[in-house]
Order: sequence, then C-alpha cells, then structure tokens
Amino acid sequence: MFSLSSNFFVVFTMILASFAPLMAQLNPNYYEKLCPQALPTIKTVVERAIAREPRMGASLLRLHFHDCFVNGCDGSILLDDTPTFIGEKTATPNNNSVRGFDVIDQIKAAVDKACHGNIVSCADILAVAAHDSVVALGGRSYKVQVGRRDALTASRTAANQNIPSPLSNFNSLLSNFQSHGLSLKDLILLSGAHTIGFARCLTFRSRIYNETKAIDASFASAVRTRCPPVGGDNNLSPLDSSAKIFDTVYFKNLVQKKGLLHSDQQLFKGDGSQADELVKYYSKNGGDFWTDFGVSMLRMGNLSPLTGTNGEIRKNCRKVNS
Ligand code: HEM
Ligand SMILES: *[C@@H]1O[C@H](CO)[C@@H](O)[C@H](O)[C@H]1NC(C)=O
Ligand SMILES: *[C@@H]1O[C@H](CO)[C@@H](O)[C@H](O)[C@H]1NC(C)=O
Repeated sequence: MFSLSSNFFVVFTMILASFAPLMAQLNPNYYEKLCPQALPTIKTVVERAIAREPRMGASLLRLHFHDCFVNGCDGSILLDDTPTFIGEKTATPNNNSVRGFDVIDQIKAAVDKACHGNIVSCADILAVAAHDSVVALGGRSYKVQVGRRDALTASRTAANQNIPSPLSNFNSLLSNFQSHGLSLKDLILLSGAHTIGFARCLTFRSRIYNETKAIDASFASAVRTRCPPVGGDNNLSPLDSSAKIFDTVYFKNLVQKKGLLHSDQQLFKGDGSQADELVKYYSKNGGDFWTDFGVSMLRMGNLSPLTGTNGEIRKNCRKVNS
C-alpha cells in the first residue's frame, strides 16, 4: 500500500526529474569519470604559458568573459572567420585585442591526448583556463564548474552589442551586467579582473587627456608619456600598477582616481554610492575579494551554457565539426 506521503514523494521526484533537463547541468565533477586527467592537463598548459608570458593569464581570463557575455559561455568567441562565416573575433571589442587563441589550441591538443579522444569542450577549456590563470597569478581557487558544450555558430553583431565599452558610464555598465542576470556586486568584483593585464592607448586616450577632474594628475601625466594624443594607438599600459599580480591594487587605484579606463573609474566616483562603498571595501579586504570574485566567476560561467544534446564537442576550437 502506498501511503499518502510516499505517493507524494514519488510525484515530487517525478516533477524534479522532469525539470532536470531545463536546469544548467554544470558541476565541478563532470570530467571525473569521463577523463580524470582533463583539468590537471589544462592547468599544466596554462601554467606553462603564463611562465612564458605572465600577461597570458590576463588574456585567457578575458577570453572567458568575452565568450560568456555573447550568447552564453559556449566557445563562440573561438570560431575563426571564413569567407562564408563572420564570427566574433573581428567584433570591435575583440579585433586586434583579444588574444590567447594559440594557447587554447595547445590546451585542446593536450587534453585530447590525455583523454584519448574528443571529450572536453572548448567552452569548458575557456572556463578552466580562466580559473587556472587567476590562481597562477595569486588569486584563490574556486570550484570551477564544467559540462558545457560548444556552439555551432557565433555572432559579430551580438558581440558588438553585448561586450561593454570602456567609454561606458556607470549606468550603462550596470544595465549591461543586469541584462546578463548579474548584479552591481558582480560588476564590481568581475571588473576586479583588471587587477591583471594591459590596455591599448586608444581605449583610454580620451580619459587621460580630457578627464582632468576625475583623474589623478600625476598618474595622468605618467600614462600620457606612453600614449600620445595622436598615434601609438596600440601602446600598452597596465590596467593597475601591479598588472602581473591578482591583488587589490586595482581597487586601491580607483579610490585614488588612478583607474586607467573611463569605465574603471566610473565604479568609484567619490560620491558615496553603493559602488563606491564596494570598491572601498574590496580595496581593503583582499581575502573577501578573492573569495567573492570566485563566486561571481561561477555566476558568469553559468550564463546560458549549452548542455545535454545541444551544441557539440568541437574537435578544433576554431571551427565547427564537419
Ligand atoms: C565592466 C566592463 C568592462 C569593460 C568596459 C572592459 C574593457 C576592457 C578593455 C577596453 C580592455 C583593454 C583591451 C585592449 O586594449 O585591447 C580590457 C582588458 C582586460 N579585461 Fe576588461 N572590461 C570589462 C570587464 C571585464 C571583466 C568582467 C573581465 C573578466 C572577468 C575583464 C578582464 C579583462 C582582462 C584580464 C584584461 C587584460 C587582457 C590582456 O592583457 O590581454 N574585463 N577590458
Ligand atoms: C580588424 O582589424 C584589421 C586589422 O587592423 C582590419 O583590417 C579589419 O578591418 C578589422 N575588422 C573589422 C571588422 O573591423
Ligand atoms: C579632448 O576633448 C576635446 C574637446 O572636446 C577634443 O577635441 C579632443 O579630441 C579630446 N582629446 C582626446 C585625446 O580625446
């Protein structure tokens, strides 16, 4: 005889099961049975690449961001343009700017070898490489979730629309993040990724020459020496004054009006806003920055992943399987 409560339990379980395919099925242990060597192999290649060039950690972290903000974390950013296909690599925020594609190819070759086949998606490689980069440069580990599959398509238009511009004001940055289901706190924490890496002169020229009220004068004049009013568009400046270390200096710089990008300084305007308070808090609490950054990275990494039978596991991260 079924009691009322066991009946209820059965029905409840059936309802849960029927919803399961709708829930994102990412989890930290996805490759544990499929290929236990997958994640350690990615880590090895990432560490080798960063040892060769510390900036690569920043470049890999940014790739995951630019992937996730354009129709979800689906490896779409990795698809090469062809004569018959326009992808995201040449979208305005990416063209001559995102980098690290060769390292992604090296990782893919290494995991395919370690796993004896095509098991690990390119979208997961981006998520894991971002995590390993943060850790290699001094951040804290978090349980990176995996199980994504790769997109069959990409969209330059969507990349142009969805990746925030360095000329954005605060409200537009916040509404961009909110449109991705992310919060003010996520905006502040994830922007903390600018604790590592570099930007080209053309992305901050108008700030260092024209924002005299919102920028520290000596910082502006120092940066101007590397970024002339005309020319030198690709000259690099560090996004914070310790660009190879994942620390709180980015936030400390913002409090001193030493943000490099206009969009960076918009997060701290000295007006006592909630954003200001968060920036100030994380400038002084490195432990919380590291932990909370991991939480926000997981939230970003969960943006519309392809799972189940959607998409594919790409053999070559640069093109869809034929
Ligand atoms: C909040 C809005 C954001 C804007 C407007 C923005 C804009 C930019 C710009 C303009 C650059 C320099 C690109 C170049 O000169 O070629 C850059 C670099 C970078 N961004 Fe962001 N970004 C934002 C958020 C993020 C987020 C959420 C992450 C990661 C979680 C991130 C990670 C990075 C990294 C690591 C670099 C340095 C890359 C390298 O050195 O290769 N950014 N960003
Ligand atoms: C991307 O950059 C290259 C090299 O500077 C340029 O020739 C090309 O027109 C750019 N593509 C787009 C879509 O802007
Ligand atoms: C600064 O602003 C002036 C006046 O709006 C403009 O003509 C000039 O091009 C700007 N300079 C830079 C480097 O953006």
